Amino acid sequence: MLSIQGINVYYGAIHALKDVTIHVEQGEVVSIIGSNGAGKSTLLRTISGLLRPRTGTIGYKGADLVHTAPHDILKMGISQSPEGRRIFTNMTLYENLQLGAYTRKDGEIAADMDKVMDRFPRLRERLKQSAGTLSGGEQQMLAIGRALMSRPQLLLLDEPSLGLAPNLVMEIFKIVEEINRDGTTVLLVEQNANRALEIANRAYVLETGTIVLSDTGKNLLSNPKVKEAYLGG
Ligand SMILES: Nc1ncnc2c1ncn2[C@@H]1O[C@H](COP(=O)(O)OP(=O)(O)O)[C@@H](O)[C@H]1O
Ligand SMILES: [Mg+2]
Repeated sequence: MLSIQGINVYYGAIHALKDVTIHVEQGEVVSIIGSNGAGKSTLLRTISGLLRPRTGTIGYKGADLVHTAPHDILKMGISQSPEGRRIFTNMTLYENLQLGAYTRKDGEIAADMDKVMDRFPRLRERLKQSAGTLSGGEQQMLAIGRALMSRPQLLLLDEPSLGLAPNLVMEIFKIVEEINRDGTTVLLVEQNANRALEIANRAYVLETGTIVLSDTGKNLLSNPKVKEAYLGG
C-alpha cells in the first residue's frame, strides 16, 4: 500500500531522516517507535506532503506522493491525526469534525459523522460545545475522529497517547485496534513503545533519523535491545 524507499529529509542543515525505508501493507497496523527527536513526526509529515524528501521515493497504491500536493494526498485516502492534536479550540466539536471532511463532496458526510460518534460516545454529548472545553483524552478522540471524517484508507497517528492518563491510553489504543479491524490501515508513531508494539503487526525502531530495527511487534517486544532502550529494562 505504502512504500517508502531511501528518503532523506532535512530542516535546513539538520538531516532529520536518513535513508529511511519502510513499507505498509493494506490491513496492517505498523508502528514506528523512537525517542523524542528521533524523526517520527518528520516521517508522518513527509508522507502527508507537508515536508518533501530531498532524495528517495514514496509510493502509495502505485502513485508517487513526493510530487503530490497535501490536499490531493488527503483525497487519495491518507489522513493524519497530528502530534499535540491541533484541534481548533475556539470552534465546536461539530465544526472540527466537519473540517475533517473538507475535501469530500459526497452525500455521506452526516452518516460518517454518526459513525464517529458511535466510536467516541463522549463526543456525541458535546457536539455543540467548544473543543477547548474538552479534556486531553477527549481532544485526542476528536483529533482521531476528525482524521476519520475524510474516510481514510491509511490513517497516520502521531503519538495519540501523549500526555494521557493510563486508563485513557488503554482506551485510545483499543479504539485504534477497532478502527483497524473495521478496515483502515494504520501507521502509528509512538514513544509509548509497549502498547504500540502490542497492537502492531510489524514495527520499526527509529533512532536519530535512521531505522535501526524492524520486525513483528511481538518479536520486538522480546528483543533485548528494545527492552533495554524502550521498555524500561
Ligand atoms: N521545524 C523544524 N525545524 C528544525 N528542526 C526540526 C523541526 N522539526 C523537527 N526538527 C528536528 O528534527 C529532528 C526530528 O524531529 P521530530 O520529527 O519532531 O522527532 P519526533 O517526532 O520523533 O520527536 C529533531 O532533531 C528535531 O529537533
Ligand atoms: Mg513527534
